[in-house]
Amino acid sequence: MKGKNLDTAWVSALSIATLLVAGYLYFHYFTPEWKGHQAEFRNMVEQRFGPARAAQVPSGIQQVWIPQLNRTDRCVTCHLGVEWKGLERAPEPYRSHPKGILEKHPVARYGCTTCHGGQGYAVTAEAAHATEIQHWESPVLGKQMARMYSVSNRLALLETHCNACHRYERETKGLEYINHARQLVRDKGCRACHAINGRGGVIGPNLTRIGEQSAEQYEYSRLSGRQSVFAWHLAHFKNPKQMAAESVMPNFNFGSKDSQALTLLVMSWKPNDYPPEYLPGLKFGDFPTQEEIEKEQRMLSGEGAFFVKKGCFICHEVSSLGIESAAKIGPDLALAVTDVQSRFGVTVDDFIKRPTGTMAVVLATQIQLTDAEKAEVIQKLQLAYQRKREQAATAAPSAK
Ligand code: HEC
Ligand code: HEC
Ligand code: HEC
Ligand code: HEC
Ligand code: HEC
Repeated sequence: MKGKNLDTAWVSALSIATLLVAGYLYFHYFTPEWKGHQAEFRNMVEQRFGPARAAQVPSGIQQVWIPQLNRTDRCVTCHLGVEWKGLERAPEPYRSHPKGILEKHPVARYGCTTCHGGQGYAVTAEAAHATEIQHWESPVLGKQMARMYSVSNRLALLETHCNACHRYERETKGLEYINHARQLVRDKGCRACHAINGRGGVIGPNLTRIGEQSAEQYEYSRLSGRQSVFAWHLAHFKNPKQMAAESVMPNFNFGSKDSQALTLLVMSWKPNDYPPEYLPGLKFGDFPTQEEIEKEQRMLSGEGAFFVKKGCFICHEVSSLGIESAAKIGPDLALAVTDVQSRFGVTVDDFIKRPTGTMAVVLATQIQLTDAEKAEVIQKLQLAYQRKREQAATAAPSAK
């Protein structure tokens, strides 16, 4: 009798324990993560600011809805302190947001995902941040992605999102990498070969929407390590021929930061459906400066006008004829008459009629010359050489 009672007691104890465990698991499984965050946030606010403030902490799913941008961002369900003061040192996701940036871009008009990426609608951290491979199409660009791409500055990746709106500006405060890359695009004369925002050459692909190309559109067989669009561009900027053997894109000897900056810039160049009031600088467009226009006019009135009219000056200076080139992608043509001989082992005549290397591509795509124009090129190159020698002769006596 006694033994039986003991058995019953054991059985009941066991079933109660099982129930408790099941109940805990059930609760844990079905209580959303965000509820836990909201409870913790409320406690934190109560400890720091008292019960009155704690009562103002919202509960339930929170969201910022921005119809113009077709976005519903629920990030604030967990990131509860974004617009609070005094939580600058609180742990994430409760910290006050760095202030300056939200003054220019109020949360009510910009939400969170416009800048950070992520899945606005999601209410679990994993799905919202979307940094796992299966969600990679729009992850939160933060610490984790920076580590994955080996970019030392965790905020650098964010700049691709900023530039979705700011791309029509020459310079934007706070966009360290993008500004650096924009400067490189101007200094190195990428437009000599590429059209960007409706202006530039046709030797390389149009880059205006290059950021929309998907991962499958790239060939990775020459890439060691992680295969991604980011990694492809990085390797391509460091050495174009490594990724495209026949490429005439010059190797600019870019360092790591240069290549990273350019990669972020070209990846930011994709179409979006932001309305015009979200696109600062759009009204100014992306046009040559007044100074650039005036310089071109000046060069068009001299002996070297031909090189401007035909677009050679995009890549070549012709120093003896006063023709400047912003990009200097090819050599000074003042000495072409002798240089071509030593560099290519042919006369200038033959080189212009049967060009090789970059010029073969240039003359087959961007600049088409008639036979009469080819004869004019040769004549002008000889003139440039003659002027060069005259200049050397007059300079020589004073040099002694
Ligand atoms: C379910 C709760 C939850 C939601 C929803 C959520 N987060 Fe977070 N977030 C967290 C937590 C917890 C952390 C801190 C731990 C960590 O870094 O993962 C965090 C950290 C972050 C960080 C800093 C870490 C980094 O990678 O740089 C950013 C940025 C961020 N979240 C952005 C967002 C954005 C944007 C959204 C909306 C698309 C969002 N979060 C939605 C919980 C959430
Ligand atoms: C206009 C762009 C912009 C918007 C909109 C924006 N942020 Fe940020 N956010 C930034 C920038 C830039 C930083 C880094 C600032 C700094 O550290 O100086 C940042 C930092 C953060 C951090 C800290 C991450 C870290 O690694 O230090 C979190 C978390 C965060 N934001 C969440 C949010 C949430 C949630 C929203 C929406 C309520 C939001 N942000 C809206 C631009 C934005
Ligand atoms: C969805 C579009 C959008 C995104 C994304 C965006 N911005 Fe802006 N930004 C704007 C608009 C619009 C203005 C207001 C321009 C004006 O008032 O003329 C602005 C203003 C600014 C200004 C002030 C410019 C001035 O002259 O006062 C700075 C700096 C700035 N943004 C930097 C950033 C940074 C950094 C990011 C990314 C973290 C970013 N923006 C993301 C649209 C955007
Ligand atoms: C002399 C002409 C020339 C110049 C100058 C040039 N490129 Fe290129 N670029 C090309 C050609 C040709 C290709 C296509 C073959 C290849 O992928 O290399 C190309 C390809 C590219 C691609 C890959 C496009 C894709 O399919 O994803 C990018 C990005 C690019 N260039 C950016 C730049 C930038 C930025 C600069 C300036 C720093 C620049 N290019 C300067 C000729 C040029
Ligand atoms: C998109 C850039 C680009 C344009 C535009 C361009 N060139 Fe070139 N050119 C080059 C490059 C780069 C070289 C160097 C050879 C090479 O890399 O194959 C070169 C080489 C030459 C050479 C040989 C020079 C030497 O010293 O060896 C001549 C001559 C020449 N180009 C003439 C012209 C003329 C004439 C025009 C206009 C009708 C022109 N180029 C337009 C890029 C360009």
